[in-house]
Amino acid sequence: MAKRIDVSGLSAYYGSHLAIEDISMTVEPRSVTAFIGPSGCGKSTFLRTLNRMHEVTPGGRVEGKVLLDDENLYGANVDPVTVRRTVGMVFQRPNPFPTMSIFDNVAAGLKLNGSYKKSQLPEIVEKSLRGANLWNEVKDRLNKPGSGLSGGQQQRLCIARAIAVEPDVLLMDEPCSALDPISTLAIEDLIGELKERFTIVIVTHNMQQAARVSDRTAFFNLAAVGKPGKLVEIDDTERIFSNPSVQATEDYISGRFG
Ligand SMILES: Nc1ncnc2c1ncn2[C@@H]1O[C@H](COP(=O)(O)OP(=O)(O)OP(=O)(O)O)[C@@H](O)[C@H]1O
Ligand SMILES: [Mg+2]
Repeated sequence: MAKRIDVSGLSAYYGSHLAIEDISMTVEPRSVTAFIGPSGCGKSTFLRTLNRMHEVTPGGRVEGKVLLDDENLYGANVDPVTVRRTVGMVFQRPNPFPTMSIFDNVAAGLKLNGSYKKSQLPEIVEKSLRGANLWNEVKDRLNKPGSGLSGGQQQRLCIARAIAVEPDVLLMDEPCSALDPISTLAIEDLIGELKERFTIVIVTHNMQQAARVSDRTAFFNLAAVGKPGKLVEIDDTERIFSNPSVQATEDYISGRFG
């Protein structure tokens, strides 16, 4: 079930390096929020703090709170593995397990998590592939390796894998940057469908994409090289692209930027 994300006072470090500082924002359930901003401003880092992946990096450390509905993901009794299941992630490069079949790729997360009956697997796999708009293209070759698909198909396979476990939130870090324009549009359409069921956050360098797919847009920036990334503003996407509150946002979206 889609849940609200409520971040307060979040900072993230790599060892002694403060990468992002004091970020607070709310993301409503069943909405798409786009993260934009120049390279190195901490979009990916922040995204990874939302499912406790940041701390997997050696030296990775987080301060602050991330509430999913009412539960703090950084609470003392919270298991990070459970968090990563409820907050799914899709990466920039499609990363299906290369030796696994298409079927097993989708089933992989379910198998890890153990909360399924084996007899239910085909049904869940089909539903997830349909949900990712991939079923018709792969239904006759479910036992072939996932690595035999095109880039755009592989990315939809990764989305099918992510949604198979019914997460509350779906995080996507530049999911279309390795794809051709047709596959990109297919993923964008899919995002529009998935937001009926999930809370979605997407990082993108493509302004048109942010404008097309998102309800809200967050602009991140660095005051100077070596300084931590900060959230400059978050607002309705329409407003960010027509009349943002901060000059730096306007400069960035109109391409007048460093
Ligand atoms: N594994 C890491 N170890 C040390 N520092 C890192 C690591 N990953 C990122 N950083 C640093 O954290 C800062 C934010 O990086 P991040 O990758 O989050 O930026 P980004 O906004 O996603 O950039 P891009 O648009 O290029 O993907 C940068 O200064 C970067 O060098
Ligand atoms: Mg990044």
